[in-house]
Amino acid sequence: MDRHRKTVHLTVNGVEYEREVEVRKTLADFLRYDLGLRGTHLGCEHGVCGACTVMFNDSSARSCILYAVQADGADILTVEGLTSPEGPLHPIQEAFRKHHGLQCGFCTPGFLMPALELLVEKHGPTEKEIRNAISGNLCRCTGYAGIVEAIREADAMWERP
Ligand code: FES
Ligand code: FES
Repeated sequence: MDRHRKTVHLTVNGVEYEREVEVRKTLADFLRYDLGLRGTHLGCEHGVCGACTVMFNDSSARSCILYAVQADGADILTVEGLTSPEGPLHPIQEAFRKHHGLQCGFCTPGFLMPALELLVEKHGPTEKEIRNAISGNLCRCTGYAGIVEAIREADAMWERP
């Protein structure tokens, strides 16, 4: 057996996968190149910018500093899993669009995840709590005001399942 490869079982966006991966492969690269889920973006690739953030067992996590083998048995959500391709945007996405919470959009998939995490945990977060939730994500374009406003409105309009 090749000790540099390992079989992982995981669920991504509700789909179960069993894949053999190199043990050095990051979760971000696994999602992007093995599963073709390019919505998870790579910016800094060392845990600073938050562009690669996904939900990992219901907590936001930076996929560029996790190995794919660490996700064995995990339940992962990426931006592709927020809503179906045919369906309406997720309320958080809709609010980002309405409030200009994105310009180039590169950072956006990463911002959606801590926003989701916050709004699942808490109704009516304060501005400070919103800013704290997204404090690990960098955006070069928006100045953040639209992002904060979008998360505030998403909280009001999202009927949680
Ligand atoms: S690409 Fe992962 S934190 Fe920047
Ligand atoms: S919208 Fe361009 S980096 Fe955030």
